[in-house]
Amino acid sequence: MKKLNGLISATQLADRSLLESLFTAAAAMERHDAARTLKLSLSGRILATIFYEPSTRTRLSFEAAMQKLGGSILTAENARENSSAAKGESIADAIRVIGGYADVIVMRHFEEGAARSAAEISPVPLINAGDGAGEHPTQALVDTYTMTKELGSIAGKRIALVGDLLYGRTIHSLLQLLSLYEGVSIDLIAPPNLRLPAQYTEYLSANKVMFRESESLENVLSDVDVLYITRVQRERFSSVAEYEAIKDSYFVDAAMASRMKPGAVILHALPRLNEIAAEVDADPRAAYFRQARNGLFIRMALLEYLLT
Ligand code: NCD
Repeated sequence: MKKLNGLISATQLADRSLLESLFTAAAAMERHDAARTLKLSLSGRILATIFYEPSTRTRLSFEAAMQKLGGSILTAENARENSSAAKGESIADAIRVIGGYADVIVMRHFEEGAARSAAEISPVPLINAGDGAGEHPTQALVDTYTMTKELGSIAGKRIALVGDLLYGRTIHSLLQLLSLYEGVSIDLIAPPNLRLPAQYTEYLSANKVMFRESESLENVLSDVDVLYITRVQRERFSSVAEYEAIKDSYFVDAAMASRMKPGAVILHALPRLNEIAAEVDADPRAAYFRQARNGLFIRMALLEYLLT
């Protein structure tokens, strides 16, 4: 496979050997970080983060990743209000300019497709850190890396993707990576008006991935190896009432968790609102904070891959 120049969609990651090499590199990053033996392989290089939507994990883990490898960062947080976008500058102009200062750009935007248009004019590699209700490919790397670490492998596993499958961009990227593994079976659990868009169910069918759509988490809870629950994406709703009516559709507490398999794993890209009770955090199967930390190492591996 040709080496990637940037990352816009999980489609570009449809290569198991690329995934394995990123996972191996991420594990090595974690070991070297603990032993304080990291190589400063990105020394002298600059990463720019330009975020038109809020973020904690994605932006800070990219910035930490760059700095741990000896690089430095330029950051335009809250770019919708604080960058020249507020004066009416186009993304295209902003990207051309930032690409003159930085060696790689990580961008989050509220419009689907924004990352692809930006990548077309960017003079340096561009990474999509979320484009509206579109995709979030580096989160899918974090998620599959975490599943591999927690479960040993993804092949043959039964995975429930739960919550806002309509607007949840992490889901849209993740299911493409899951479809690369043999014998995976996916339960798509969502309220009727937050079901997975047809383009993705068609993708699963075309790739011969077993999947079922349902509204009930209860029915599958004791059978799944992975429970991946998502936040209802409030910012994508046009009506507050519609959001309020649906926001607490699924909730995992200790009683629910106790019905899961002993070796199962509970994931959430975070931020969580009311999807998982704090009492579940002490359960060894609750892996969402380990998942967030894995984001650092996977992003180190990705930056080194793109820039060296
Ligand atoms: C996700 C996102 O921004 O899409 N967050 C993240 O990157 N960890 C999920 C979310 O906001 O619900």
